[in-house]
Amino acid sequence: MIKTIGICKSFSDRKVLSGIDLDIKPGMIFGLLGPSGAGKTTLIKIITGQLAPDSGEVNVLGRNVSELTGEDKKKIGIMMDNHGMYDRMSCTDNLKIFADIYGVPYSEISRTLKEVGLGDAAKTPAMKLSKGMRARLHLARVLMISPKILFLDEPTSGLDPMTMKYIHKLITEQKDKGCTVFLTTHNMEEATVLCDEVALLNEGKIVERGAPDQVCRRYNHQKKINIHLVSGEDIELAHEAGSAEELEKLMSQGKIETIHSSEPTLETVFIELTGRKLDNGEEAQYA
Ligand SMILES: Nc1ncnc2c1ncn2[C@@H]1O[C@H](COP(=O)(O)OP(=O)(O)O)[C@@H](O)[C@H]1O
Ligand SMILES: [Mg+2]
Repeated sequence: MIKTIGICKSFSDRKVLSGIDLDIKPGMIFGLLGPSGAGKTTLIKIITGQLAPDSGEVNVLGRNVSELTGEDKKKIGIMMDNHGMYDRMSCTDNLKIFADIYGVPYSEISRTLKEVGLGDAAKTPAMKLSKGMRARLHLARVLMISPKILFLDEPTSGLDPMTMKYIHKLITEQKDKGCTVFLTTHNMEEATVLCDEVALLNEGKIVERGAPDQVCRRYNHQKKINIHLVSGEDIELAHEAGSAEELEKLMSQGKIETIHSSEPTLETVFIELTGRKLDNGEEAQYA
């Protein structure tokens, strides 16, 4: 569905992407993860044909991105940032502008507004929307075209947990309809619950990739079992045959309240790989 081979991009003498290979199968939610400044937005721009790479190839929908037809482009929804809304215009009128551009019938507008939970706000001017509602209106714009591929650049960044969950539901519904989703995030929890596959971009290279649970298991160096006892005590056992007797004893005596094996989370894996947290903090400085 989306394939890139050896994408490289520099801005003046600063190399932002060096040799990005991706192969994203139809119908999956793919998450491109990486700290701020890692090059995620640059890569989305290149894949969607908004920016030319210095070298490398991009294929989308089985065609070189520079050769996509008008019909192909109508199947691709791109949500990059929160610009491009007319504040004084109602939700419906904002969507009409987009419907005209994409040749979508106006009948799709009320359907989509309902789909994103803005059915009652159809006549509300964009400037009166809360942040969460605004995010949903932005999503409505791209969902209106019933996309085959959806590019979402940090779709939930800065949103409250309720709106974030709602947007996750909308994204999952798109997947259920057979849409392929390419999203970027620096939120590891989001990636874990939402993505079928992730790739971590760091210093211009993909340093790890796979299903989130697969990636986590790969970094399970500790191999521990953490047990919380009914008595309130915490104990840690090695995750190996030698612990079986102790475990059996605790269990048969009904002493265990909770028990967990110690796979790392995506967050810990990526801190290990990048040496820092993937929050939206200071911009990465790569020489
Ligand atoms: N048009 C541009 N000109 C110069 N530098 C840019 C441009 N766009 C992005 N950059 C730089 O490229 C790096 C990657 O940016 P970006 O792709 O926005 O990262 P991310 O989306 O992962 O936060 C950053 O250091 C940014 O400053
Ligand atoms: Mg970005």
